[in-house]
Amino acid sequence: MRTTTVILAAGQGTRMKSETPKVLHPLLGKPMLAYSVEAAQQLSGEMPVVVIGHGGEMVRKELGNRVRYVLQPEQLGTGHALQQTEPVLKGLTDQILVINADMPLLRTETLTNLVVASQENTSPVTMLTVIDENPRGFGRLVRDSQGLVCGIVEEAQASSEQLAIHELNPGVYCFRADWLWTALTRVPLSPKGEYYLTDVIEIAVADGYQVHTIPISDSSETIGINTRVHLAEAERVMQQRVNHAWMMAGVTMIDPRTTYIETGVKIGSDTRLLPNCILSGNTVIGSHCEIGPNTMIKDTQIGNRCKVVASVVERAILEDDVDAGPFAHLRKGAHLQQGVHMGNFGEIKNSTLGPGSKMGHFSYIGDANIGAQVNIGAGTITCNYDGEKKNITVIGDDVFIGSDTMLVAPVEIGTGARTGAGAVVTKDVPPHSLAVGVPARVIRKLEHHD
Ligand code: UD1
Ligand code: CA
Repeated sequence: MRTTTVILAAGQGTRMKSETPKVLHPLLGKPMLAYSVEAAQQLSGEMPVVVIGHGGEMVRKELGNRVRYVLQPEQLGTGHALQQTEPVLKGLTDQILVINADMPLLRTETLTNLVVASQENTSPVTMLTVIDENPRGFGRLVRDSQGLVCGIVEEAQASSEQLAIHELNPGVYCFRADWLWTALTRVPLSPKGEYYLTDVIEIAVADGYQVHTIPISDSSETIGINTRVHLAEAERVMQQRVNHAWMMAGVTMIDPRTTYIETGVKIGSDTRLLPNCILSGNTVIGSHCEIGPNTMIKDTQIGNRCKVVASVVERAILEDDVDAGPFAHLRKGAHLQQGVHMGNFGEIKNSTLGPGSKMGHFSYIGDANIGAQVNIGAGTITCNYDGEKKNITVIGDDVFIGSDTMLVAPVEIGTGARTGAGAVVTKDVPPHSLAVGVPARVIRKLEHHD
């Protein structure tokens, strides 16, 4: 049986008080709508359909061609929104799963249960329900004396008796497509001037069908996001889920409440995360590392046995046994090869530091290619920018850069060379020689054994 998911995302989300469409607000770094899309993609091979309206262009830009779009030009309610998909879907799918784009915490397993149950019964409507003491403004499920579903009443229209009902409508339904299209034409205009999708439940009952319900046991799945307060609640639930999974996979967290791991991140076992870490983007961290406290790592690859303390790291590569920080800033293209030691107050951009090289204190290294076992003295700066363009610094293996050296690029320091403290190096320094002064001059050759 072909099942197509329709994601309703045309509403404005007025209560967010935002210029960004509600469904694009991020949850653990990813727009909330992306969670529904991914669930839909796992559920069925049919490409999901997203109903867009408010901020539709921004939604299209975000999701690209992963989904099909249907425009709801005026937001006349959830029933009207679903009706817009008829020209795209009629005759091309057997079942339609409807989810609201503002419910990103629904698990794929839960949706699968619903779809399978719908395939196994003959009712044109199978829906999820949730029992919750906190109604959150959800529609209430009304049942008759035998416990059969009679309909859904919206909170605004509910009597005080109905308001006391704890069985709620999360807004997730699986419909028989052929029945749905005609049922939608029978939905009456509500007192609020909208066509409520919830009214098709009553229509199914009037047609003599029994509406099947599947209870959700974990009510956190049905947190719907209407305000930024809900957004923060949902963020917390998502964070707990992700952190729980990593802890079960062998990652230690001293304080999971202050540990934020976006969904694309990977972490090896026996790595310890100290409080206040944000790991984001396509970050991969190896085993036996210690990260934090107070560290942000984005789009970065970190090997095994690395230590990063109180630092900001973005689009960098750290090979095995590297340590950095406290207060290191690794930027785009920083590549620290095996065993590099980078101490406090250093910044590295678009540069490679070869195996075993050390840069302990207050240095800026940009656009440099640095060999193995190099010692970079405190306060060293690659003067890579001449006001017009970025220039390259090359430093050979076993070089010793004295404290407070300015390397005025483009410049090359040969293998085994040294610079004196405070040198301003404007010309290349040949291998195994010592350069000192301002501007630096070579004052002697150094003894060495090949
Ligand atoms: C809806 C349900 C309510 C349920 C709740 C669960 C109706 C009438 N009510 O209420 O019973 O408990 O969801 O979350 O369906 N949308 C459109 N076009 C529109 C209106 C809405 O695409 O014209 C989209 C919104 O972007 C949103 C979803 O439909 O993603 C739900 O709309 P919303 O206004 O949030 O409905 P609720 O008031 O939450
Ligand atoms: Ca809602």
